[in-house]
Amino acid sequence: MRDVLDQLQTEAIGDLAEVRTGDDLESWRLAYLGTKGRLKQVMPLLRDVPADDKPEIGRRLNEIKHELERAFDSTKGSLGSTDDKQQAIDVTEPGLAAGAGRRHVISRTIDEITEVFGRMGFSAAFGPEVEDEHHNFIALNIPEDHPARDPADNFFMGDGRMLRSQTSTVQIRVMEEASPPLKIITLGRVYRPDTHDATHFSMFHQCEGLLVDRQVSMADLKTTLFQFARAYFSDEAEVRFRPSYFPFTEPSAEFDVKMKIKGSWRWVELGGCGLVDPSVFEQVGYDAEEWQGYAFGLGIERIAMLQYGIGDIRRLFENDARFIRQF
Ligand code: FA5
Repeated sequence: MRDVLDQLQTEAIGDLAEVRTGDDLESWRLAYLGTKGRLKQVMPLLRDVPADDKPEIGRRLNEIKHELERAFDSTKGSLGSTDDKQQAIDVTEPGLAAGAGRRHVISRTIDEITEVFGRMGFSAAFGPEVEDEHHNFIALNIPEDHPARDPADNFFMGDGRMLRSQTSTVQIRVMEEASPPLKIITLGRVYRPDTHDATHFSMFHQCEGLLVDRQVSMADLKTTLFQFARAYFSDEAEVRFRPSYFPFTEPSAEFDVKMKIKGSWRWVELGGCGLVDPSVFEQVGYDAEEWQGYAFGLGIERIAMLQYGIGDIRRLFENDARFIRQF
């Protein structure tokens, strides 16, 4: 009798391991625990067991019954959860297409501009977006009473720090660290509380260039911007300077690029530039008698908008994939 029970237990557990579906499990239950199942079938054998062994064999029978019932319940539980999952997934339904991602048009423009200036020998530099007034204004020769320092025109943080309003800060940071000659560009975010309209946003990107060497002139600056315009926009592009004023350059200019937009030639304002003001060199400890330099700064959104025919800067930052994925 003991052997019969041991065998029954082993076979039952072995068969249960083969069960894959609810129907399999029901067949197993009927085969072992059902009213005509194997457990019931061995009951009559108890009669022939010697009286002394009966209590022990009885206990063993009960033990096996309980074990098989527990095993049945747990298999039912695990099958139940997979059955649910199988029902939830309709394998015949067409899947959602995983659209290929792409870089944002501004990120791509940054890469392209970096590449063009890289070919002209400019290396990339970086600076923090959270700045201090020294790097954003003082070292750039922007006095306390200058309108650019108006609290209404800047994101001051109230502890002497601010979100930088221009990438010209990186000119100072690079010159503090490195000795001349140098030739760098930096591209990154800047922040100004400008009212949002078709051409203004409170966060935008600038590209800043700085060259420091001996005997640098406006002609070198204009040639560099001209070569950039030809390489980046078109090999017929032209550059012109208009007199302007920035506290950190002298002389200063606004520069425009003549380019073909929708078939007709137009002058488009790109940014500011000039020769580095000697007072800026003094701030960073360069000998202004020995070194000269030029600097320029341009708005990247404006460039991308011209390049891709985007009429409103706000569309760039709404994160509307239907718009952004066109470029
Ligand atoms: C400057 O920021 C100077 N740092 C540029 C410079 C660098 C001059 C080096 C001399 C030497 P300005 O404030 O004009 O200049 O800004 C430069 C460009 O940033 C603008 O021509 C424009 O293209 C872009 N820009 C300015 N404000 C916004 C805005 N709110 N949204 C989008 N683009 C803007």
